[in-house]
Amino acid sequence: MREQIGQEHRYAHSVRVARCAEILARAYGASTRKARIAGMLHDLARLYPPERLITEADARGIPTGELERAHPLLLHASVGAALAREDFGVTDPEILSAISKHTEGASEMSPLDCAVYLADTLEPGRDFAERASLWELARKDVHAAMRETLREMLVYLAKKGLPATPSALAAARAFGVEVS
Ligand SMILES: [Fe+2]
Ligand SMILES: [Fe+2]
Repeated sequence: MREQIGQEHRYAHSVRVARCAEILARAYGASTRKARIAGMLHDLARLYPPERLITEADARGIPTGELERAHPLLLHASVGAALAREDFGVTDPEILSAISKHTEGASEMSPLDCAVYLADTLEPGRDFAERASLWELARKDVHAAMRETLREMLVYLAKKGLPATPSALAAARAFGVEVS
């Protein structure tokens, strides 16, 4: 995995996500083993250049719309899930779901999906003001942590002038964020 990801910085992030996802999965009554595997493998396609993400998605019939073609980085989650299956032999649908949903979230998220999503956003290498308090919240209350983290994410996107995807908006609504 270290070799395939090809960058120490991204590898170290993946290890931290795996550890954090395991802690959260334990708190949520989800499989700690699946959380660790999903955490390790979630960013397999994160360092692919934009054109490659589109080519790899096309090659696998992963649907891409206007939004994905304008912001190919969005595709690293679903391409990453495909690589986990093809290169690492992962067939467990819960692990593949957690990898697929780690960036945008989705309208329906299992406790395992949430553990990996929150671990990716709140691992200690992330640098934003609310990180530590959101992490503490995540250990206690998955629903509240998802709501507050998704709310932060929408604020961040708006500040950056980036679009919130339909999946991200659906996730935010599902966890009780008021979305205009
Ligand atoms: Fe990612
Ligand atoms: Fe990540």
